[in-house]
Amino acid sequence: MSEIESVAVVGAGFMGTGIAEAVAVAGMPVIVRDVDEAAMGRAGERIETSLARAVRGGKLSESDARAARERIELTTSLRAIDQADLVVEAVPEDERLKLSVMEAIAGVVSDGAVVASNTSSIPIAELAQAVSQPERVLGLHFFSPVPVMNLVEVVVALDTNEETIARSRRFVERLGKRPIETKDRSGFIVNMLLVPYLMAAVRMYEEGFASREDIDNGMKLGCGHPMGPLTLCDFIGLDVLYAVCDSLYEEFKRDEYAPPPLMKRMVASGRLGRKSGRGFYDYG
Ligand code: 3HC
Repeated sequence: MSEIESVAVVGAGFMGTGIAEAVAVAGMPVIVRDVDEAAMGRAGERIETSLARAVRGGKLSESDARAARERIELTTSLRAIDQADLVVEAVPEDERLKLSVMEAIAGVVSDGAVVASNTSSIPIAELAQAVSQPERVLGLHFFSPVPVMNLVEVVVALDTNEETIARSRRFVERLGKRPIETKDRSGFIVNMLLVPYLMAAVRMYEEGFASREDIDNGMKLGCGHPMGPLTLCDFIGLDVLYAVCDSLYEEFKRDEYAPPPLMKRMVASGRLGRKSGRGFYDYG
């Protein structure tokens, strides 16, 4: 069984660039593909900033950071991914978009390549139908910020074969991250536990039961969480969380997954959290 030695990431947003950085820091070459030069420019800046932060925090030497940056190729050409042993789809959480991207990937990758999706909530079985040989498709769900969070959920769909799982697990371990295996069910392990907690905090705030600061401090100082739930919602992005809630609710029809009305209004008003400058808090 061959090891994964080269990687391509399709989608150069916050998650895609984080995945690429983790791959490059682990010593593997990685191609990051997005649709236009503007997206490439932003991706390059994001990667530089994150590598510099790793150097400042003593996680990487200057020369290792430079070497990692050199292993990352940014491109707008989909053809450029055709030699990769693993392609990770990391475009926004929109089912139609993800399906069309999976189809495009399937059109260029080599037969032996593993095709993974970083989706938080869309069934892998659906995405796998866009790829010939669905047995080589699985979910690799990274956590944000990818360079820091040491977990990847390995999502096994109905058709995923053992070889795909084994190669992917070894790849995750090579990144220095811990793989945990889960079936293909909305929310996988982590979001199924995390989302009801976050939504309970949003409802608490929506009802005026406590201030946002007290809700956040309750979990930060009382339970040792690095961020309070409302700060974490802002960090993840309310649009992303809304999509995950919808998908969980659609799958299980349980009230704890239903997005609270306030979330819907905040998304409609463009209060998406940190990335748009305001969410539960203002980020100037
Ligand atoms: N590479 C390597 N290390 C880095 C780095 C990088 N690019 N950037 C930061 N770090 C390191 C720092 O050196 C520091 O290490 P230390 O603790 O050993 O000193 C550590 O990461 C924390 O960095 P900072 O001190 O600069 O930043 P903060 O203290 O503000 O922490 C945070 C930021 C890591 C985001 C922390 O607040 C945290 O862990 N928050 C929770 C994040 C979380 O829950 N993520 C999961 C979201 S759910 C998800 O993604 C799933 C999706 O489907 C919804």
